[in-house]
Parts: sequence; structure tokens; C-alpha cells
Amino acid sequence: MATRPLRKLDPAPVATAADAWLERVEASLSNAGLDRAEFCRTTLCDLAYPQYSANWAEAVNDTRLPLGTRLALSALDPRNVTLEPEYYAECDDARFQAVKPLLWLWYSFDRLPIGGQNVDLGVRLRRLLAPRIFKRCGERFKAFQHVEFSFGYNVECGDDAVIHRHVLLDDRGGIVMGNKVSISDYANIYSHTHSIVDAVDVTNAPTVLEDGVRVTYHATVLAGVRVGVQGMVGAVAVATKDVRPYHVNVGIPAKSVRVKPNAPKDAWDPARTAHASGRAD
Ligand SMILES: CC(C)(COP(=O)(O)OP(=O)(O)OC[C@H]1O[C@@H](n2cnc3c(N)ncnc32)[C@H](O)[C@@H]1OP(=O)(O)O)[C@@H](O)C(=O)NCCC(=O)NCCS
Repeated sequence: MATRPLRKLDPAPVATAADAWLERVEASLSNAGLDRAEFCRTTLCDLAYPQYSANWAEAVNDTRLPLGTRLALSALDPRNVTLEPEYYAECDDARFQAVKPLLWLWYSFDRLPIGGQNVDLGVRLRRLLAPRIFKRCGERFKAFQHVEFSFGYNVECGDDAVIHRHVLLDDRGGIVMGNKVSISDYANIYSHTHSIVDAVDVTNAPTVLEDGVRVTYHATVLAGVRVGVQGMVGAVAVATKDVRPYHVNVGIPAKSVRVKPNAPKDAWDPARTAHASGRAD
């Protein structure tokens, strides 16, 4: 294997527009009196339908416009859409409604030509949004496109987290991530589960990814699992039980196939891996 650190790229020719736009977004978000729904709507309208920016409300009600256009315009306002967590019985409406406009902006930006694969702008925008959505967000948060959450407000995240594209962070029961956690493309982290008898019998259980954990491509971590410090969940694995610190667990259900060579001597001390379930593989 070769060491391949990320390259530094030259700024884009119109980087000043991006900088100015992000500064404006940050200034708006820092205003305690901000109407977040309005902010989300105007930001999306500028990006997606600039011809209606000045007269959005009139356009939504303009019967001369095609119905689909009016519907698309109305959906720029988060108050005109519903998100799945709003249907969950335990949704804390006060907390969710506070973060919903920012989630809607995050998801919608990802689906615009300006968003999606646009790494630099997207990472910087999400870095502004995440601390205002999560329960806690550390420094240098980095998320790529098409990350999705349940509530968003139940995510705790340390410094230097990297969340790759198409990751699902189901924080219904809470997700707690330490520092330097990396979650690879298409991975799923769950914190709720359903009874096998009755699907509406839901158990929420916080899922914990300790410092330096890597959940790799297409892997799934089930509700209530704790992945210990520097633990790794291999590609396509399903972690149904705790992963011991420095262990590499693979397969379905995920089992330990090795201990990382840099593991300290006490890395597999059961006292260090103690967890409510008491189960680890
Ligand atoms: C988990 C992983 C790192 C293990 O690598 P490794 O320590 O070099 O392990 P090995 O390749 O020696 O495999 C050990 C055993 O586990 C099996 N195995 C490895 N990865 C597996 C996986 N994802 N699923 C099922 N079995 C797996 C191997 O076939 C081997 O089995 P064997 O002993 O019966 O032959 C690697 O397989 C993996 O999943 N990588 C994902 C890609 C990655 O690194 N992503 C990080 C992005 S941040």
C-alpha cells in the first residue's frame, strides 16, 4: 500500500463569489432572530429559480404559471413539505422544527447543479449547517453529498469527522461520534430498531462510534452498538454487536478478524469494552 494524502487544489476562478456567498450564509445563520424557513426558501430560490427571487409569493399564487412550477416554488419553503421524522411518535417538534429548514436546505442544495458533487462549496456549506443542526459538532467537520439524518438534533460529533457520500445517520435514538471518526460511502448508522412481532414497537438505543473509528463502504451499524476506539467495520459488514477497540470486524454478522497492529496491550481488556449489552464480537 502507498501513502496518498489528499492534494491541495488551486482556488476556482470564481472563488470570490463562493466566499462572498458563504460569508452571507454564515452572517444570516449567526443572527439569533433569523427566520430559518424564510432563509432556507430565499437561499434555495436564488440558487434554483432566480427569476422568481424577487416575487416568490406572487409566483406561487400566479394561476398563469404551470401548476408544477408553482408547486416546485412552494416546496422551496420547508413549511410546505413534510420530512419523514415528523411522522415519528417521539419527534420533539420544537427541536425538529428548529432544524428542519437547515436540513431542507442541506438536502435540497445537494440536488441542485451547484451542489451535489461540488466538493469545496458543499463541504463549506455543510460545515456551517452541521453545528446548528447537531446536538454537538466539533471542529473541521467534513461531509460529502447526499448524507441523510433522521432528526439531526440527536447527533453528537467530535473533531475531524469525515462523512462520505450517501451515508445515513439515523439519530432517532442518538448517535455519538468521537474525534476522527470516518464513515465511508453508503454506510448506514442506525439507532432505532423495530420489534419482529410488531413493527410499531420501536426501541431507540444510542449508537456510539468512539475516537478513530472507521465504518467502511456500505457497512451497517445497528442500534445500540458501540464501536470501540480505533475499531473498524469492514466493507458491507453488519455490526450487530459491539466492536472491541482496535478490532477489525467483517461480515454479516460482523466478527473480529484481526486486531490492528498499533493496538496498545490493553486494547482487548473486557473492562475497556464494557457496554450495556455486554456483547462484543
Ligand atoms: C476490513 C478490511 C480493512 C480488512 O482488511 P485486512 O485487515 O487486510 O484483512 P484481510 O484482507 O487480510 O482479511 C482477513 C479475512 O477477512 C476476510 N475479509 C476481509 N474483508 C472482508 C469483508 N469486508 N467482508 C467479509 N470478509 C472480509 C478476508 O477474506 C479474510 O478471510 P480469510 O482469512 O478467510 O481469507 C478490508 O477488507 C475492508 O473491508 N476494507 C474496506 C475498504 C477500506 O479500507 N475502507 C476505508 C475507507 S475510510
